[in-house]
Amino acid sequence: MSHRAAAPPFAPVPADPSGASGPISVSVDALRVRRGKSTVLANITASIPNGRITGLLGPSGSGKTTLMRALVGVQKITAGTVTVLGRPAGDPRNRHDVGYVTQAPSVYRDLTVLDNVRYFGAVHGAGRDDAQAVLAAVGLAGLAKRKAADLSGGQFSRVSLACALVGKPKLLVLDEPTVGLDPVLRADLWEQFRGMAEEGTTLIISSHVMEEAGHCDTLLLLRDGMLLEQLTPAQLRERGETEDLELAFLRLIKAAESAAPGNGAGTAATGGRADS
Ligand SMILES: Nc1ncnc2c1ncn2[C@@H]1O[C@H](COP(=O)(O)OP(=O)(O)O)[C@@H](O)[C@H]1O
Ligand SMILES: [Mg+2]
Repeated sequence: MSHRAAAPPFAPVPADPSGASGPISVSVDALRVRRGKSTVLANITASIPNGRITGLLGPSGSGKTTLMRALVGVQKITAGTVTVLGRPAGDPRNRHDVGYVTQAPSVYRDLTVLDNVRYFGAVHGAGRDDAQAVLAAVGLAGLAKRKAADLSGGQFSRVSLACALVGKPKLLVLDEPTVGLDPVLRADLWEQFRGMAEEGTTLIISSHVMEEAGHCDTLLLLRDGMLLEQLTPAQLRERGETEDLELAFLRLIKAAESAAPGNGAGTAATGGRADS
């Protein structure tokens, strides 16, 4: 859609980290989620820009998966709204436009790599040749005939990624897709993601490895269910007064804690939680 007089399309990174100068794919407003007895997302408000890579960064247990689940509409929410591609999260009309790859890939172990991708392709109306093209894109062309059960962990998770890609979603939500991959594959995948963003796909990618934040255009920094900041990697380096993104994140956490001790619904001050 080109109904907006947007900023120049060649700007590599939005000046505004929310991407508000360009079209928004997802907007989250005052989102609150309780799971079990605890509040796992507290009052999250964020905008995710179209055609960019948004990184969801935070330590294990900070709420990344829960937020992603809310975005794709499989998480019961307590309060707030989540709008995805102009519709409420989970709206069936978005089914073909939103791809979601979980941390526990849903791949059929008894099917070959190619048949898995063809199956998901058929569900989304993709042609038979699309499956081959997608396998090549994730570096699995040579393993097309192998049974998924006989793959390594990294290969297995790339099959799951291929299954999400074959539907050509406008929005791709990937939960820690690079976990367990060797550094070469990880770099390859980030290149793939960059290429997809350049072709207009909106990507939301979680990671607990701050080093990976550098591959993203905009970052949502989560900590104990709270959104600490939304900013670009460059802004994070600037705020933390270091090139080291992990150290910069730690400094932001420290600053937030000293600014508001005991603030919020989570347990930010101690990091301790009642639940597991
Ligand atoms: N089914 C559940 N019931 C209760 N609490 C849960 C459930 N799933 C996750 N949690 C809690 O929600 C918090 C956020 O979890 P999660 O979103 O998985 O974090 P992350 O993906 O960042 O590791 C954690 O404290 C976790 O223990
Ligand atoms: Mg998770």
